Amino acid sequence: MSPKTERRSVGRHRKTDAAQRRKPVLNRLVEHRLPGRVSLDEYRDKVRDVYDGPQGAMLAACSLLSLHTPLGANLFRKRKFDLRGARRILDVGSGAGQIARHLLKYADKEAELICFDLSCEMLRRARNRLRSERPRFVAADLSRMPFADASFDRVTCGYVLEHLPDPRPGLAELSRIMEPGARMLLLTTEDTFSGAWTSRMWCCRTYNRRELARICGEVGLRWEREIWYTPMHKALRAGGICVELVKI
Ligand SMILES: C[S@@+](CC[C@H](N)C(=O)[O-])C[C@H]1O[C@@H](n2cnc3c(N)ncnc32)[C@H](O)[C@@H]1O
Repeated sequence: MSPKTERRSVGRHRKTDAAQRRKPVLNRLVEHRLPGRVSLDEYRDKVRDVYDGPQGAMLAACSLLSLHTPLGANLFRKRKFDLRGARRILDVGSGAGQIARHLLKYADKEAELICFDLSCEMLRRARNRLRSERPRFVAADLSRMPFADASFDRVTCGYVLEHLPDPRPGLAELSRIMEPGARMLLLTTEDTFSGAWTSRMWCCRTYNRRELARICGEVGLRWEREIWYTPMHKALRAGGICVELVKI
């Protein structure tokens, strides 16, 4: 590890430790500890390995079993996140194409769609499952996106941000590539007990809702509207954080 990377890593440990201490003991015991414990490069390699490998191959099935796929479709069908009029849509961390499938169905026919992921293997799986010539597939890291400033008017980012030990570089990049007034549907794992189990399964972190809202504000993303899959999800605080953000 270079001294610079090491310094970054130690700084992150302190921040993570403070946030960790505020979580209930049980959540702390269950939650995966790798994010924030190793250097950014090591952690990114680990995430890529997880999704390139057998666990990534099971992602689409897991999304079906957890009802993420059908409930996600409802968000677009009922226009809880409105795609009408969108011209350029970016799906960040496309995985097996779970969200991209809804985008193909509910976005205007002329809208351009880009599927983006760290894992080339996940992009290959998404391409196979989507069976459409329409999306473009791009492999890169969310913290360093190969797109010009203000390129997109809609962004979907489903369960990706939890794979960044520090969300700021990723959120700042998302803010950069969105045009003013552009809208983003952000879904991410919350610091609840079920979120802690998700973190353990997928080697990721969890987020405190208020803390995440504050950080979004810092990078020019307005916390517009919290969305729930169903009233039951709202009552039980299940399904994680689901929010519409607007680029200021
Ligand atoms: C849990 S899957 C989410 C799939 C889909 N978006 C959904 O909502 O079901 C997370 C995806 O994010 C990708 N990912 C993780 N870290 C990333 C990063 N730093 N940059 C881009 N993609 C990343 C993983 O490769 C994986 O395909």
